[in-house]
This record gives sequence, C-alpha cells and structure tokens, in this order.
Amino acid sequence: MSSSASSLTPPGRSAKPVPIAQILFSQGFGTRRHCAALIHHRLVAIGGEIVEDPQQAFDTAGLVFEVEGQVWPYHEKALILLHKPSGYECSRKPSHHPSVFSLLPEPLRNRDIQPVGRLDEDTTGLLLLTDDGPLQHKLTSPKYHVPKLYQAVCKAEVDDAQLRRLVEGVLLEERNPKLAAEPVSAVSAERLPDGRLQMALTEGRYHQAKRMVAAVGNRVLALHRQRIGALELPADLKAGGWMWLDEVQRELAMSEPDD
Ligand code: URA
Repeated sequence: MSSSASSLTPPGRSAKPVPIAQILFSQGFGTRRHCAALIHHRLVAIGGEIVEDPQQAFDTAGLVFEVEGQVWPYHEKALILLHKPSGYECSRKPSHHPSVFSLLPEPLRNRDIQPVGRLDEDTTGLLLLTDDGPLQHKLTSPKYHVPKLYQAVCKAEVDDAQLRRLVEGVLLEERNPKLAAEPVSAVSAERLPDGRLQMALTEGRYHQAKRMVAAVGNRVLALHRQRIGALELPADLKAGGWMWLDEVQRELAMSEPDD
C-alpha cells in the first residue's frame, strides 16, 4: 500500500463520545462481533494504551487509533484520492481487470465508498472515492459545473480547427434522443507544448472525452485526469497510491480553478 494517511487527518465531527467497538465498526473493521473480538484480543490501542472495554467511549474528533498495529485516523465520512493506474476497473465487481478497490486497504473496502464518476479501465489519474452522498452528487452533477481536466495523447496532433470544435460543441451518438440532440462541449481545449490535448469537461457522459475527440476526427490513445475543480493530482503520489483528503482539499475539489 502506498498512502500518506496520517498527515491528512480531518477532525471527526462527533461531540458525543462513541464506544470503541462502534467506532471500529463504523470505520470498516468488520462485523460488530469481529470488532468486539479485536478488542477482547487486546489488538486495539489508543495513544499507545490497549483498550480493553468495547464500551469505553472516545471523542471521535481527531481520533487516531491502532488496530493490529495499523494506525487509523477516524473519519466520519471517507474522502479518498486515488492515483488510478491503467488496467483497473472502477467497478466493485469488475469483469476483465482488477478493481480499483483492490488498491485500497480492507477497512476502506468495507465502507460504502463509491468512485466519484468512473474512469475507463485504461484511463489514469485522479479518482475520488467517497461515502458522502451530497458530495458525490455535487461533484458529478452537471448542474454544479465542476470542471475535470483531462490530458490526452491523440493519434494525430490536435489542430486548431479540432480545438475550436471541441469548445464549440459536438453531437455524440446517444441512445437517449434528448441527449443525442444536445451538443456537448469542452470548457476549454488546448494543445500542450508536448503535443498532448488538454481539455476541461463538466459533464460525465460515457467515454465522453474519447467520443468527443473521435467526433472531431481524431483518436485518443491515452487519457489521464489531472484535476477535479481546483484539486490537482499530487505530483508525489505514485500510480496505485492513495491518500485521505481533508476539508480544504474537499473544498478545492468543488471550486473553480484559477486559470
Ligand atoms: N472520458 C473518457 O472518455 N474516459 C474516461 O475515463 C473519462 C472521461
């Protein structure tokens, strides 16, 4: 596992102390029975002290505990940033490739976290996962216009006419006739100095970037997501690595980038 979990611990929100067994259960450490057994087997510690009573209650704000030596910061809601490598599917039940969930530790896999908009199996880059329903909605709904920045290696270098058409809007084949009649456009599209296409999209239609590029007569060979809102993929997070996000980064994901 590659993680920088401990440096990004948002405070918990609960003011009322919560029994440790309930805390472990809420954080994905297994069934209630399993969580109680972990405590009885003296495998849970807080501040270096073994916790012996499953009913001993703790304030969850900023709580960090250890289970079998694994240090775990309490998060009422999980918001995870994963640097998705190529060759992983975003589904919990993948059909041809391993799931992105296999890159996360078991307590996170046990929580009801979902990818915030899926990336294709061969797309790399910034993927958020959360069990925070309202946040999930805000980041994916076209109503909130959160721009996602993609970089693509295309078969032919994108020319000015293609860039213009991407921003002006293209029609995509859709099963839904209403969608098919609505042009879809990039918020911005430019050619990077290395020849790659960079474009920002606010909608999340199926294979949208690849289909838009195909619609202007080119083809995406490799696709990478670099930014959601104003939240950048950290340069030091290797493909396959993950990290918790704090409140500041959560706000960044929902805000407009400066440029
Ligand atoms: N657009 C695509 O075509 N694929 C992705 O994975 C994301 C956006």
